[in-house]
Amino acid sequence: MYSKKQKKKYLLVTDVDDTVLGDFEGLLLLSRELSSVRGSIVLAYNSGRSTQSIKASLVANPCMPAPDYLIGEVGTQIENFTTAEIDDEYVQILKSHWSREEIEKVLRDLPFQKQPDEFQSDLKLSYYASPEVDPVRWSQERLNKSEQQATIIYSNQRDLDFLPPRSGKGRATVRLQEKLGFDKEQVIVAGDSGNDVGMFKHGFKGIVVGNAHSELKRLGSPPKINIASDAESKKQKSSHIYVATAEYAKGLVEGLRKLGVLPSKNGDE
Ligand code: GLC
Ligand code: MG
Repeated sequence: MYSKKQKKKYLLVTDVDDTVLGDFEGLLLLSRELSSVRGSIVLAYNSGRSTQSIKASLVANPCMPAPDYLIGEVGTQIENFTTAEIDDEYVQILKSHWSREEIEKVLRDLPFQKQPDEFQSDLKLSYYASPEVDPVRWSQERLNKSEQQATIIYSNQRDLDFLPPRSGKGRATVRLQEKLGFDKEQVIVAGDSGNDVGMFKHGFKGIVVGNAHSELKRLGSPPKINIASDAESKKQKSSHIYVATAEYAKGLVEGLRKLGVLPSKNGDE
């Protein structure tokens, strides 16, 4: 499903809800602006929803720029949008380190509420959990005592996802980058919430839209002493993360201008 040599200039990997979608005027602006440079970009939508559900959004919003790739279920599905080919090798790798049932057992009596079936998949176990119960800490503690491993992602002060180790939106982005033959410097990621954080941890250029949750906005802040301790946060600081003033797709356009993907407004930068 992948080409070996990459001729396009950029790989743009963006979240969908509250980044591309959420403000209709912004979406129209994004669609108009992107069309002028679309030929030099490989575009991937990277969502917590399934690829099926992103496709439904594309039908419901005809002005959404047509993507080349879809990444769904918080970085556990990768699909070529043009050919509908699924990255089966990736799925097999993730499956080989994951037992959904065992993880569910380990978390059994924690005060989480399982999300409806339509939001569950073989490679993603999702709950709703209040921040008051410190869901990440308790889940991690349980997993540490078990033989199970999972990537834990908490978003919007509510959504708690368990994914196979070494998956998530960031890992899926790296997979696409490597498979498509892009250099790190050519990759731009964008998002608004907790499940997007992983995309900003691999040294890619990043855009945080103005409406983003604090869990993501703080990535663009000057480093604080106690978050600078590990290698991951060092990488994070050295990458170029732009926090837009404008919200939703307008923020995305602002960031794309700042990063030179789109021509600057009035040629002033
Ligand atoms: C999407 C998914 C949901 C997940 C959330 C955060 O809303 O549908 O299952 O918990 O993203 O990743
Ligand atoms: Mg979002």
